[in-house]
Amino acid sequence: MKPFKLTFKPNNVTIQVDPSKIPYGETGLPGSILDIALANGVDLEHVCGGNIACSTCHVRVIEGFETCSAVSSEEQDQLDVASGKTEKSRLSCQCVPSGEKDIVVEIP
Ligand code: FES
Repeated sequence: MKPFKLTFKPNNVTIQVDPSKIPYGETGLPGSILDIALANGVDLEHVCGGNIACSTCHVRVIEGFETCSAVSSEEQDQLDVASGKTEKSRLSCQCVPSGEKDIVVEIP
């Protein structure tokens, strides 16, 4: 896996992700957007601690969505109650990019 960029909007903060450093051991699935964000100083909300029991970690993956891990039924249930949900919505604690493409996410 080669390095890729993970950009957060609207703040336009970009993290250069070095896959050899994953997992960071932060909250959420190893290598998830939340794991990468917290390890690199981007403060995403994560009230339930990455346990698919809230939707505060909701993001919209506006670029590179197709390179992310599949949505589980538990994640889908939480996304259904997330405000501002679109077809690009994911729980950042569950969304693991493969690294094939750079990722841009929007924090609602
Ligand atoms: S932190 Fe609660 S579902 Fe992701």
